[in-house]
Amino acid sequence: MRTLALAFGGIGAASLAALFAFGRPDSQAQQQTQQSKPAADSIAAPAISDTGSLKGPRQPIFFRHDIHAGQYKMQCQYCHYSVAVSPEPGIPTMQTCMGCHLVVAGRDSSAKVEIRKVRQAWTEKKPVEWVRVHYLARHAHFPHQRHIKALGPNACTTCHGDVSRMPQVFKVNNVNNMGFCISCHVERKVSRDCSVCHY
Ligand code: HEC
Ligand code: HEC
Ligand code: HEC
Ligand code: HEC
Ligand code: HEC
Repeated sequence: MRTLALAFGGIGAASLAALFAFGRPDSQAQQQTQQSKPAADSIAAPAISDTGSLKGPRQPIFFRHDIHAGQYKMQCQYCHYSVAVSPEPGIPTMQTCMGCHLVVAGRDSSAKVEIRKVRQAWTEKKPVEWVRVHYLARHAHFPHQRHIKALGPNACTTCHGDVSRMPQVFKVNNVNNMGFCISCHVERKVSRDCSVCHY
């Protein structure tokens, strides 16, 4: 609780729970809220002085998975809300961010600068234009929901690596190499008909 009190500038644990419940976009809010509270065994994300040396494309706002999904153990599906039901995993709206960042301003100057950008995008009603990291050519189709159903809700690491340890998302596997798809489909005896992926 000590690090929490620091992170939230002295707000108590009870109001923290309320904070995490704020602005949930769907009816599973209650259940997921419980899971999104930072756990006692969470590992503090490192301070980063040289962002230029990080792997992956630079994003318009320095959003850190290692803080949100790592240190605070937020579930992937809190933000990538449609990954189990749709081909597209979903990218959170600013409303999801503001559920916390109306109150959470950041502990140090670099966090404050980045969070100010979040608030500005919200007040100006300008969605953030995140740079895509994984992007298939238009002739190939990848249905997330089919894979999550077959491989489980924690299968993200199989293809994306351990995103919860990444300050900035980068590509661990070359998903644009058809062999990456085919080798697992062979192993798992899934269809390899061209028309399954190309249409
Ligand atoms: C607080 C919200 C939030 C949580 C929780 C979250 N993400 Fe994200 N995720 C984002 C945002 C915003 C982006 C776009 C910006 C970026 O790439 O960092 C993103 C991008 C990504 C990308 C790159 C997408 C691309 O362009 O290819 C992957 C992969 C990803 N997330 C996986 C995960 C996984 C796996 C988890 C759980 C361990 C997770 N995310 C948890 C908000 C979140
Ligand atoms: C459940 C609460 C919660 C949600 C939802 C959330 N954040 Fe955060 N965010 C935090 C906490 C807690 C911190 C750590 C603040 C600190 O210690 O400085 C943080 C830190 C940050 C930082 C500063 C990172 C740094 O450099 O230290 C940025 C930028 C940020 N969040 C952006 C976002 C964006 C963009 C979204 C929506 C996609 C989002 N957050 C959603 C709780 C949340
Ligand atoms: C079997 C491999 C695989 C698994 C498992 C997987 N993904 Fe992906 N993911 C991909 C591929 C391939 C793309 C690029 C899809 C495209 O461009 O159409 C992608 C794209 C994404 C994107 C970017 C989407 C966008 O609209 O910007 C996010 C976010 C993402 N994945 C999150 C997740 C999360 C969260 C999980 C786990 C719940 C997960 N993925 C599991 C292969 C996978
Ligand atoms: C780690 C293993 C794994 C990887 C990597 C993988 N897949 Fe799959 N894929 C599966 C499994 C398992 C299924 C079966 C899901 C089911 O039974 O519904 C599946 C099913 C599919 C389906 C639906 C098949 C059907 O019969 O309708 C498509 C389309 C597909 N994958 C495309 C891709 C593409 C494109 C990639 C690479 C970007 C990829 N997959 C990478 C394991 C994988
Ligand atoms: C499991 C999914 C899957 C199946 C099955 C599949 N492909 Fe692909 N294919 C892909 C992906 C993913 C790419 C890379 C797309 C990109 O560049 O982003 C690709 C790329 C290609 C390309 C572009 C050149 C290249 O090598 O990158 C051709 C041509 C191609 N596939 C033909 C085929 C043919 C013919 C079949 C049937 C024998 C087939 N594919 C079956 C997923 C699949």
